[in-house]
Amino acid sequence: MIYIFHFLLLTVAITLIAPNHPLQTAFAFSLLGYLAVLKLIPRVSDSFIKIGLKGKDLSKPHQPTLPETMGLVSAITYLILMIFLIPFVFFKYLVSFTNDDALTSSTYQKQFAAISDNNLFPHNKLAEYLSAILCLQSTTLLGLFDDLFDIRWRHKFFLPAIASLPLLIVYYVDFSVTSVVIPPFLMKGWGSQIFLVINFFIDGVNRMVEGLSGLKFMTRESTLITSPPLLDLGIFYYIYMSAISIFSPNSINILAGINGLEVGQSIILAVILLLNDFCYLVSTSISQAAHDSHLFSAIFLIPFIGVSVALLQYNWWPARCFVGDTYCYFSGMVFAIVGICGHFSKTLLIFLLPQIINFVYGLPQLFHVVPCPRHRMPRFNKTDGLMYPSYGSLDKPNKVSSGLLTILSTLRLVDLQQEEGENKTTTLRFSNLTIINLTLVWLGPLREDTLCLVILVAQLLIGVSMIALRHTVGPWLFGYDNLSWGVK
Ligand code: UD1
Ligand code: MG
Repeated sequence: MIYIFHFLLLTVAITLIAPNHPLQTAFAFSLLGYLAVLKLIPRVSDSFIKIGLKGKDLSKPHQPTLPETMGLVSAITYLILMIFLIPFVFFKYLVSFTNDDALTSSTYQKQFAAISDNNLFPHNKLAEYLSAILCLQSTTLLGLFDDLFDIRWRHKFFLPAIASLPLLIVYYVDFSVTSVVIPPFLMKGWGSQIFLVINFFIDGVNRMVEGLSGLKFMTRESTLITSPPLLDLGIFYYIYMSAISIFSPNSINILAGINGLEVGQSIILAVILLLNDFCYLVSTSISQAAHDSHLFSAIFLIPFIGVSVALLQYNWWPARCFVGDTYCYFSGMVFAIVGICGHFSKTLLIFLLPQIINFVYGLPQLFHVVPCPRHRMPRFNKTDGLMYPSYGSLDKPNKVSSGLLTILSTLRLVDLQQEEGENKTTTLRFSNLTIINLTLVWLGPLREDTLCLVILVAQLLIGVSMIALRHTVGPWLFGYDNLSWGVK
């Protein structure tokens, strides 16, 4: 039965592939990606285990050994598909109609004439597309190195910024818009004076960078008095984009530790971003530039969902494989890429809200204000098969660490327990600072899959609310919405 279903999917995929129908072909490729990953994972699992790419599922009674880094299968399948997708997306621009060869020319002319939909990518998008693929290749390699050598956090944290360089360079050459809209109400009274000072500082730094490098990063003068007020960030906008490419992969990697969560949250995020893209794609009043940017984003997200859903089937509780850091970096970078190339890198942040909350909440542990164990995943209780919060312990509390934990405990944001040891020593035990543990502190013990589902549903609800907020409160706050106004 399942084989018939897969065969049907394959037939649908092949039927849907068509030049110059980017969305339709991306969907067909998504189906192909799904089928390929579904078939490949069981076939390569043993080989991964043989070379040491394996890990113990710590939340199961006998802690079975599972193949790790299976996200590599999804990442490589995705990269191959995205390369094969090029002619279908850029067909019109890859073909030279001034070709001297009469036969070739007439063949292309016929194909071109057969195309009714002319909403195609402009040629310069190909550079963005290729740099995105290059960036994902380096990111996948970085993730693989991490899985192989367990690179230290302080070393691996900044590496995605290097992987994203090709993307930023193409952004510089191709698009180079570095100004941001300031909500008009912030410009009232003292606000305008403050922004003038900020603008003065930004301008100074940019002039200095220009003097040193010869590269001009500011594209237009800040126009703080016009409506809507614009602040040109210049070099700071590139620093911001680098920060996104660092944050996005790392934030996925630290919201992890229960079956299905790394890949589950990535799929939900991709679906939310895709919904946001479709808000633009179905609108008739947006500019061609906005349409193309969101088309670009959708084309990267649709096949990503295909290769990820297949991975989730194996990673869902009880997991048969782990996705590895390779997948976390790869998926995080897909989001950074669509945010940057789709020109909605600020909107991306509101969709990353659960990851941002998890990161900010975990800061005291990540910066070692309170101890951070190697694994912060919840604790599995063999007797009832449920997950309980895991705890870190503070043996030598000082004013800062114990004060912070007491505040968090008063706000019901941490479960704090005091243990009296021998020699009148006091140890503070605190639930590890991740939203996974916090969910358990609030809701009580849960089975691993229920816990994962609760977090994913919350993420979906937050994401959908954010789409609604983005297109209602957003325009009101900023004085315009690029969905209706057509301005990027
Ligand atoms: C991050 C988290 C760490 C969390 C780990 C789980 C931070 C700073 N680091 O570390 O707290 O414990 O991810 O992925 O927040 N594992 C399971 N079940 C799962 C997923 C993973 O038991 O569903 C275990 C396996 O032993 C697997 C290992 O976690 O081999 C993978 O850990 P790894 O991804 O290398 O940890 P980090 O990303 O460094
Ligand atoms: Mg990890």
